[in-house]
Amino acid sequence: MTATLTVNKSIFKENIKQVVGDTPVMAVVKNNAYNFGLDFAIEVFLEVGIEMFSTTSLREAIKIRKVAPKAMIFLMNPGIEFEILRKYDIQMTLPSLSFYHQYKDELSGIKVHLEYENLLHRSGFHTFEEMKQVIQENSQLPKKQQLNITGIWTHFGYADEFDVSEYEIEKEAWLTGLNEMLTQYNFQYIHAQNSASFMRDDLFEHHTHVRLGIVLYGCRPYSSLPENAVKQSLTLSANVIQCRELKKGDSAGYSFAYTAKTDTTVAVVDIGYGDGVLRARSQYDCLINGKRYPIRALMMSHLLVEIDEAVKPQDNVILYGEDIRIDEYTFKGVGANSEQISALNHCSLERKIIG
Ligand SMILES: Cc1ncc(COP(=O)(O)O)c(C=O)c1O
Repeated sequence: MTATLTVNKSIFKENIKQVVGDTPVMAVVKNNAYNFGLDFAIEVFLEVGIEMFSTTSLREAIKIRKVAPKAMIFLMNPGIEFEILRKYDIQMTLPSLSFYHQYKDELSGIKVHLEYENLLHRSGFHTFEEMKQVIQENSQLPKKQQLNITGIWTHFGYADEFDVSEYEIEKEAWLTGLNEMLTQYNFQYIHAQNSASFMRDDLFEHHTHVRLGIVLYGCRPYSSLPENAVKQSLTLSANVIQCRELKKGDSAGYSFAYTAKTDTTVAVVDIGYGDGVLRARSQYDCLINGKRYPIRALMMSHLLVEIDEAVKPQDNVILYGEDIRIDEYTFKGVGANSEQISALNHCSLERKIIG
């Protein structure tokens, strides 16, 4: 008996097909493919016909090249390992005018996508005029010294938010600037939309790809989407290792984590924060034999769950699954979908692929 992270490959695949349809996709596979396992995820994406991948890590980009020799790989963070980028044919963001000026002499032959900063202010050119300046300066260099501008892109910081108008503002700024650029220049790759933006607006006109993460991994990016729009393939399960009686007033767990208000039975479950269960998640419930029970204490390798007489040692305890979805807890405020998934500890959990 051990706590286990299971991914159902058929559901994972089915979900991708259902969500994407025939929209061209660049799959975001950063952070070990949102903790689903880079090799596993790439294999499935290739099986469903997705051949473009983006990550923030050069190490992951090289790993992708090894499993997907023909894929288009896009590094969303700037790197200065120019020889490696050329060797593995990795395309990269061009994050600012100052980066271009600093590395102009070394960037020759590197394939870059011009990045528009927009409201996220994490990376990118401040204006489209600055991008034009690069295109201009680059075109004045001898052909052999030029960088290869293949794409243009941005990332929205507010597509997942419905209570504020920032998404509309960043969208308008991007589309206006892009359309103006397209009157003068062509790009092979134009991409801006994350999961929420795609689910809200479908692929924007003139864009070649959507750049999706979380929705491919089975979570709804916002709560007004119906549950059946996105299928969860991941299950996080553990086991009841003991059932213990507490008398009214007894405390259990470290530092009086839980004090029984009446005589109570608790299950001791073999999973804890060392396995990646977030403290905020432990304020809620888990599923045992199809019924929800409240979690009362979180420890490094254990949970205490308040139970009734139906629960027995060795029963399976589900923290996340088809009927107890990750996105349910996102919408309850536990943390972003990706935060909950990426906390899961591959070193301590057993990992299974089924289906
Ligand atoms: C630059 C960039 N593009 C796309 C994505 C995918 O976003 P989502 O997982 O919301 O689809 C991310 C995720 O953080 C990102 O940083």
